[in-house]
Amino acid sequence: MRMVDIILKKRNGGELSNEEIAFFIKGYTDGTIPDYQVSALLMAIYFRGMTPRETAVLTDRMAHSGDTVDLSAIQGIKVDKHSTGGVGDKTSLVIAPIVAACGVPVAKMSGRGLGHTGGTLDKLESIPGLSVSVERERFFQIVQDIGLAIIGQTGDIAPADKNLYALRDVTATVDNLSLIASSIMSKKLAAGSDAIVLDVKTGSGAFMKTLDDSIQLAQAMVQIGEHNGRHTVALITDMDIPLGHAIGNSLEVIEAVQTLKGHGPADLTQVCMQLASNMLFVAKKGTLEECRTLAEEAISSGRAFEKLKAMAKAMGGDVSVLDDPEQFQKATIVQEVKATKDGYITHIQTEQCGIASSVLGAGRERKEDSIDPSAGIILVKKYGEAVSAGDSIARLYTSQKQSVQQAQEMLLDAIEIGSEKPEPEKLVYARVTADSIERY
Ligand code: URA
Repeated sequence: MRMVDIILKKRNGGELSNEEIAFFIKGYTDGTIPDYQVSALLMAIYFRGMTPRETAVLTDRMAHSGDTVDLSAIQGIKVDKHSTGGVGDKTSLVIAPIVAACGVPVAKMSGRGLGHTGGTLDKLESIPGLSVSVERERFFQIVQDIGLAIIGQTGDIAPADKNLYALRDVTATVDNLSLIASSIMSKKLAAGSDAIVLDVKTGSGAFMKTLDDSIQLAQAMVQIGEHNGRHTVALITDMDIPLGHAIGNSLEVIEAVQTLKGHGPADLTQVCMQLASNMLFVAKKGTLEECRTLAEEAISSGRAFEKLKAMAKAMGGDVSVLDDPEQFQKATIVQEVKATKDGYITHIQTEQCGIASSVLGAGRERKEDSIDPSAGIILVKKYGEAVSAGDSIARLYTSQKQSVQQAQEMLLDAIEIGSEKPEPEKLVYARVTADSIERY
């Protein structure tokens, strides 16, 4: 079998056989197929798509490209959560500690920034000293002791996804249903949890821009999960505007801490509560309403914040920055972006905000790039708010002088000011299960 023939077949719109998919995943994982051929195949998949059978086989091969984790030694129903990616999406840092504080173990493998979206690992690593590369034994130990660990994919867990993820990030091949579904579900299947809650984002800052596409992606992932014996539920949540005010790694950790202390932004708090309630629900902690009360208590009692601190400490982090965010390393340049006219914020082109944050140093352009944990954006004004010309609408944080002007122009372009106050956006659009789509 030759990789070039597989690329040609997909380029011409053909359907890959199980053997061809297995060949390319094995070859890429063992290093016999180079990045450039896989990049070409990814682009062909992007344009030609994959059938549900191809997607299921791709997921299965990726999940089995390394070891699978057996979490049965840990008592209770283990619940995992994964987002399809967004801008300002720091929900994992809030939800996982809440759920763990309610007695449900969370053993989670997260990703780095992808395309214009941020990644939980990069955010966690902005905590000085914290390492997301945790050996299997230690991972288990942390989950046993604290009830919560969020780590990076070790070389032996779904390595095919680890490699493909980094390649997709820099080859403009992220936003494809089959590639997203197989990436997320391969990790989730390999990581061994009993139940999975998926946060499928929709809107201008999501990879799926329309509600219909987002529901289709949710259904594909729920089916893969259930087919593999994992109770899987998906919420379709809004990513038409950035979640919360903070975009960028340490800025988002600070906002997650505020939310865990009960004074985070309303939109972020609301989405986190819904996701956390669903995680507690699939862990059989009660009705959705009872689970919401449990989640609220985990915050008001301070237990959820303590869980985040305990996890960060166990992973080598200096948790003094969580108690006092002023101690985070600071960007050397802070630049205000000002409104050019009076009115209301009527639209935020969210993907542009994500790219602007990356330009400031919060994301990568090439696989080998490192990121600046202190770089990013604070949206001072959000969708629907009134502004006057000259008001600060955003603050840019960076240590790269040359990127300020470009980021500022992108942001001014991305934030529209109109004369009429717009209707409030929905935060949660639908809940997708194995046999239903409940629209809100
Ligand atoms: N998250 C992932 O892990 N993979 C994707 O492709 C998108 C979001």
